[in-house]
Amino acid sequence: SQTTRRGADGALEVGGVSVADIAREVGTPAMILDEADFRARARRFRDAFAEAFRPLAGADIYYAGKSFLCGAVARWVDEDGLGLDVCTGGELAVALRAGFPAERLAMHGNNKSEAEIRRALQAGVGRLVIDSLDEIEQVSAIAADLGVRARVMLRITTGVEAHTHEFIATAHEDQKFGISLSAGDALEAVRRTLAASSSLELVGLHSHIGSQIFDVGGFEVAARRVLGLVREVRDELGHEIAHLDLGGGFGVMYNTQHTPKSPEELATGISSIVEKECHELDLTVPRVAFEPGRAIAGPSTQTLYGVGTVKDVALGGPHHRLYVSVDGGMSDNIRTALYDADYSCLLAGRVSDVVPAVVRVVGKHCESGDIVVKDEYLPADVHRGDLISVPVTGAYCYSLASNYNHVPRPPVVAVRDGELRTIVRRETEDDLLALDVG
Ligand code: LLP
Repeated sequence: SQTTRRGADGALEVGGVSVADIAREVGTPAMILDEADFRARARRFRDAFAEAFRPLAGADIYYAGKSFLCGAVARWVDEDGLGLDVCTGGELAVALRAGFPAERLAMHGNNKSEAEIRRALQAGVGRLVIDSLDEIEQVSAIAADLGVRARVMLRITTGVEAHTHEFIATAHEDQKFGISLSAGDALEAVRRTLAASSSLELVGLHSHIGSQIFDVGGFEVAARRVLGLVREVRDELGHEIAHLDLGGGFGVMYNTQHTPKSPEELATGISSIVEKECHELDLTVPRVAFEPGRAIAGPSTQTLYGVGTVKDVALGGPHHRLYVSVDGGMSDNIRTALYDADYSCLLAGRVSDVVPAVVRVVGKHCESGDIVVKDEYLPADVHRGDLISVPVTGAYCYSLASNYNHVPRPPVVAVRDGELRTIVRRETEDDLLALDVG
């Protein structure tokens, strides 16, 4: 977990840097990324899965850049020897500009543009994940035009949808991703890809079942179903599928009700599932890949806000709630409003022994749904000028950030060994005004 402790003045220290210094140097709000934590997590996934799958055909980890991506992160992921999953031309551009080796890139997207496919193939991405029957023809034509053989995977919809503690193994075909297993399209997709072998090289099959998952049960059903297809492909088309990508989705602890498994537990659990299913289907075990984003990026980062207005709002009877307004909000963390996510927070700039009060941390946007932390206890003397930290904001916060109400995006600063480095600078009003050319 993060190297967080309190300094002599009571201010939180992250990666050896005081949040008070960070606020002075870059202002608030700011996202503070603990580099050592991020990289330790990335390497732990890499090693745990390599270890557990070593007796089988091995495993690779592709960090899911959609959770958070910038040049520095792409370079760390490269240095630490992981692959990188990108899903748009923009994410691909960040990776390529950072010098990320194209052969370790996986390019996703359910509706890639011609330009995106062209750029990915020209760069030589290691796997382009095809998401529909018609994309097979599209990629094949572009590859032929470029005179390259595209290395492709086919994304298969297994009908498994997993979120948090539950997974549902039927009736989730009604969504936009992938090629349907149940409708028989998947075998047809393999057939067509193999038939286009002059321009397409079928690397393997892909399945992604959801996000913020704690249980391996969903992976078990998905793996069984995709491996069933692997068997069909072998028996009917005489082709051995060499790679299986089981996607991302490992959950993190946003609150104490969340109980994530360790990378080692996940790796051991899923490797024995893959081994068992392959054994039952009499299959050669493929090399397996995973694409964790949240589980690597999420816990590495906290958002530091400055407190402005504090209001004591009566809720009827003896009940009341302190509304603590901060200088960011739903533009830098929309997850509470969008998914009813349950974040926590703490007083970051000082310690206080004043009794705690029930608070709700809200932003500065013009809408009452602009809530960052729904319910939390903070010392009742929380006041204007205080610093508040919201942990576990490293995944899908900056990457989902907006400029709602023309609020500029916060910077992302990396801390390590007592040093602070801005890796994404704060957006300025000038940045925003520059787009307004009418
Ligand atoms: N691979 C594929 C094909 C994906 O679609 C995703 C996430 C991942 C990997 C990474 O999943 P992770 O390990 O991060 O759970 N905005 C939502 C999450 C959307 C996830 C979309 N796909 C949120 O904030 O919860």
